[in-house]
Amino acid sequence: MSLDLATERRHRVAAAPDHHTRDPALPDPTEPLAVNVTGLRCRECGEAEELGLNHVCGFCFGPLEIAYDTTAIAGRVSRARIEAGPRSLWRYGDLLPTLSADPAHRVDLGTGLSPLRPAPRLAGHLGLDELWLKDDTRNPTGSFKDRVVTIALSAARALGVTTLACASTGNLANSVAAHGAAIGLPTYVFIPHDLERGKVVGSAIYGANVIAVEGAYDDVNRLASEVADTHGWGFVNVNLRAYYAEGSKSIGFEIAEQLGWQLPDHVVAPLASGSMYTKIDKAFTELAHYGLIDGEVATRMSGAQATGCSPISEAFGRGSLDVWPQRADTIARSLAIGNPADGYYALQVAERTGGAVSDVGDDEVVEGIRLLARTEGIFAETAGGVTVANLVKLVRDGVIEPGERTVAVISGNGYKTIEAVADHAGPTHTIAPSLEALHAALDR
Ligand SMILES: Cc1ncc(COP(=O)(O)O)c(C=O)c1O
Ligand SMILES: [Zn+2]
Repeated sequence: MSLDLATERRHRVAAAPDHHTRDPALPDPTEPLAVNVTGLRCRECGEAEELGLNHVCGFCFGPLEIAYDTTAIAGRVSRARIEAGPRSLWRYGDLLPTLSADPAHRVDLGTGLSPLRPAPRLAGHLGLDELWLKDDTRNPTGSFKDRVVTIALSAARALGVTTLACASTGNLANSVAAHGAAIGLPTYVFIPHDLERGKVVGSAIYGANVIAVEGAYDDVNRLASEVADTHGWGFVNVNLRAYYAEGSKSIGFEIAEQLGWQLPDHVVAPLASGSMYTKIDKAFTELAHYGLIDGEVATRMSGAQATGCSPISEAFGRGSLDVWPQRADTIARSLAIGNPADGYYALQVAERTGGAVSDVGDDEVVEGIRLLARTEGIFAETAGGVTVANLVKLVRDGVIEPGERTVAVISGNGYKTIEAVADHAGPTHTIAPSLEALHAALDR
């Protein structure tokens, strides 16, 4: 916001008749953003690191996460403040990394607060009493990745980053390209060369530099780390990963608020790197810590993979926290990470919460997409098919019990991966413009 606008808004608020009687629990529009982070911290050894474009601990090479000023947050955050906030993920701004008090650093294309929809027809099909769908097909670029990009780029701006980049299985590239265009920064997206057309066009249209690498995602990611080290660009999921990852917490915050500040009994979410799944769990823990939900966290977290790229599910089946990398071969390209950065942490979450990580074949993924579309009117990309098909499997295997209040995270839009289902939708009828032709086609 420009200084003029900010001043004007302050005057307007000061002139408002109810200014002096305003509920102090509600966000004050004249209040500057509160910087709520103290630095970065190693997830393994706890070593403190300064805020910046660093992603590994200088001491043990472990991954870094955000260290928050939890006392300041506790003194500020409340249900009322959140409920009075914007209709986007920024309503949870107190619980997401804020590196600068200058609102101009916030990147906002209107991401978040996606619908949490009851799904009675799918629930009936599965034999579940209560099923909800977190419909993240509705974000600005059609996937939950808009959440992580919003947070990563807000941090990037506060850190003075001038060139944006990412290594992506497709959806992240779309989102970084769109947000980079909207804030006017040069943007480079690195993707595997053979991605779905919708994912490639959906990045190039924004004017991003699309670098299609001849290799699998894991090759793309290795190259991205090298580029990050040599060029100093802000790679949202490499050297900005600590900030990026926090964005996924907003899914958990929203689920809780949309259920009336209660947690579900069971969540099913798709896993690629495993980050989003672990952050939904982290969100629930934070809500409990700050007294925003009633009672303890008892949500079982289950994870969904495609068999053709299932390193986390495979480790879960072995009863191990040790992920063995795989070479991916599945239509679920958005989840095709053979060497998942957060696999170990995801397995810990599954074990601690009493959930499971499972996988399904590509035929079941297609069936999952069709089932979701036909029962609830949501067209999901392949990751959604993976989630729904694993939901079917987890109910069938008795892992999810019929009485559990269950939420499935539908993380991406089906228009991006038309190829996956083009031969499995229909039939369609092409007819001459006459009633006879219609009746003939419908066989009446
Ligand atoms: C649509 C969709 N859902 C889920 C995921 C999994 O995300 P994560 O890497 O956080 O596990 C991805 C990752 O690319 C994705 O594109
Ligand atoms: Zn460390």
